[in-house]
Amino acid sequence: MDNPFAASSSWYVNPEWSANASSEPGGSAIANYSTAVWMDRIAAITEGVGLRGHLDQALANGNDLFTFVVYNLPNRDCAALASNGELLISENGFERYKLEYIDPIVEILSDPAYADINIVAVIEVDSLPNLVTNLSTPECQEANGPGGYRDGIRYALNQLSTLPNVYSYVDIGNSGWLGWSSNFGPAVSLIGDLIETTDKGWNSVAGFVSNTSNYAPVEEPFLPDPTLTVGGQPIRSADFYEWNDYLEELDFVQDWRQAMIDRGAPETIGMLIDTGRNGWGGPDRPTGVSASLDVNTYVNESRIDRREHRGNWCNQPGGVGFRPQANPHPGVDAYVWVKPPGESDGIADPNFEQDPNDPNKKHDPMCDPNASNRYDGSVSTGALPNAPHAGGWFPEGFQVLLENAYPPL
Ligand code: BGC
Repeated sequence: MDNPFAASSSWYVNPEWSANASSEPGGSAIANYSTAVWMDRIAAITEGVGLRGHLDQALANGNDLFTFVVYNLPNRDCAALASNGELLISENGFERYKLEYIDPIVEILSDPAYADINIVAVIEVDSLPNLVTNLSTPECQEANGPGGYRDGIRYALNQLSTLPNVYSYVDIGNSGWLGWSSNFGPAVSLIGDLIETTDKGWNSVAGFVSNTSNYAPVEEPFLPDPTLTVGGQPIRSADFYEWNDYLEELDFVQDWRQAMIDRGAPETIGMLIDTGRNGWGGPDRPTGVSASLDVNTYVNESRIDRREHRGNWCNQPGGVGFRPQANPHPGVDAYVWVKPPGESDGIADPNFEQDPNDPNKKHDPMCDPNASNRYDGSVSTGALPNAPHAGGWFPEGFQVLLENAYPPL
C-alpha cells in the first residue's frame, strides 16, 4: 500500500514510554500518543518487553500499526559520542549486525501472527547523513567503507523488504543538516544510489524520515520565504541560517521527495517528519513578523525555532509538536513521534558514570550546558542541565517539552 499510516486506524502506544509520561505532572495529556520503539542494541530485541512482547501487546490491543527504529549499525553515531553503539567495524561489527541484530528482528517480524500489523521501520537515524558531511571524522570515514553504513543498511533493507507488511523509511537527517545545496544534492545521490543497489530497488523503501530526534520546525510561520530580502540581504543569509536553503522541514521534505522521484522513485514514496519536540510554543514564541530592517534581528525576532544555534541538537528546550497523524500535507505520509518526548539525547555531565547496558555511550560536549557549540564557539550548546545518558528518562526535559508544546496541549 502507498501510506501505511493512512491505512491504519489504531497506532501502537509503547507501554513503557506511556508509563514514564503519565507518571509526570501533566504527562497524561500526551501519554496515549504513539511513539516509536527503539531497537537500540542487540539485547533490546529480547530484554524487557522486547520486540516480540511489543508486537504481542499490539495484537492484544487490536493495533494495526507498529513503528520501530533500527538503530545499531557498527560505528553508530560516528560524528558524536552520546549514542556510540555496541558494534565496531574493526571488531566484526558488520557480521554481528547481520547475524545477531537484523536476522533475529526479521525472524520475529516474519511470524504469521503479526501479518495483519503494518510495521514501520525507521532506518538508522543520522547514519547516511554522516557520510555526506562528516567524513573528516575517522569513525565516519571507516563507516563510509566496506562493512560500514551502506553495507549495513543495504542488508537491513534487503531483509526487511522480504516481508510484505514492513514499510521502511530511511533517515535523512533534517533541514538544518542537509538543507544546503552543497549537501542536499550529494545526499540525494548517496542515498538514492544505495536504495537502487538493494535487491528490490525502490520497492524496498516506503519513503524517508526527517527531523528524527531533532528540533527543526515543520514550518516557520513568520519566515515563509527564504529568498525574501531584509535590509538588502536574503533572510537565509542571517547568522542563524548560514545561507541554508531551507528554514523548515516541510519545504525540505517535499523537495527531497521530488528529487527522489526525479531520479526514478515511484510517486508512492512518502515522507515522515518527527514532530515530537519541534513545537516551539510557550512564552518565547513570536506572535508576528519582526519590523526590523536588520536581517539578523528580523530573523531572530521572527523565528519560532528558539535555539541559540541551529546545529544545537542535544536536549534543547523545544516543545511537543504536532501530534502524530497521517497525511498532514501533500507528500507527507505522517507526522510521527520517533524520538519519544522525555528521553534524553545524551548525558550532560562530563564526569559521567558509564551506563552498564550501553558502555559505549559517552558524554558529548554538545550535551554540556556549560560548553560552547562545537561549530560556533560564540554561542552555547543550549543543552538542558542534568540530563541522563541518551535514551534515559529525563523528567526536567519532559516538563519543558510540555510547557512549550505547540499546538498547546
Ligand atoms: C539513544 C537510544 C534511545 C533513543 C530514543 C538515542 O539517542 O542512543 O538508546 O533508544 O535515543 O530515546
